[in-house]
Amino acid sequence: MTTASSAATGSANRWGPLWGARPADWALSEDRQLPTYEAALEQTGFKPSWRVLDIGCGVGAFLRLVAGRGSDAHGIDASDALIAFARGRLPHADLRVGEMEDLPWEDDTFDLVTGFNSFFFATDMIAALREAGRVARPGAPVVIQVWGAHERCDLEAMKQVARPFLPPRPPDAPGYSSIQTRRRSAAPSSPSQASPSWPAPNTNRS
Ligand SMILES: C[S@@+](CC[C@H](N)C(=O)[O-])C[C@H]1O[C@@H](n2cnc3c(N)ncnc32)[C@H](O)[C@@H]1O
Repeated sequence: MTTASSAATGSANRWGPLWGARPADWALSEDRQLPTYEAALEQTGFKPSWRVLDIGCGVGAFLRLVAGRGSDAHGIDASDALIAFARGRLPHADLRVGEMEDLPWEDDTFDLVTGFNSFFFATDMIAALREAGRVARPGAPVVIQVWGAHERCDLEAMKQVARPFLPPRPPDAPGYSSIQTRRRSAAPSSPSQASPSWPAPNTNRS
């Protein structure tokens, strides 16, 4: 058995309390992503017999979808409050509080590993992606879904509305350009797991 344990960064401690502040409110948003999840699943050649891991699973909306189709559902999230909420909806699933840079599963465990809008919260994104690849069985798809570019993302409109009500930006917060630089330098040089490439559906427009 191999489990990585040296890459923990504390990212879950940082993000968990923030994401878990209002689980029921967050569920309203996460549940609306069903069309995105379905489009992703379609690209994977999904089979109901699959053992599935969702990384940064939130309240378990994606896991509910695959469990409803017969899969053995596993999830991990930084927030104990979101995991508690998910357990209420998925009492038979394996749901754990933890950190994506340090997954508590053995090598080659899953037939499908997913991360919907979650991998970029890792302090060490390469470690998080390496862990996703490690627990996927050889040849298993690893789905990495991220929000679109600022100018193409409907989330921007919501942020514009919310911005006047937010506290001032901390002086040490990274700027957008430094995040972009970090992303560029974090690009894996030789991905061992190729995830399928697919155009994300825009669920707000027909
Ligand atoms: C934008 S939400 C996405 C939730 C869900 N995957 C979805 O499709 O809506 C990001 C999620 O990643 C989780 N998260 C953030 N940092 C994490 C970490 N280091 N390890 C595990 N989960 C993390 C958050 O708690 C949150 O539930």
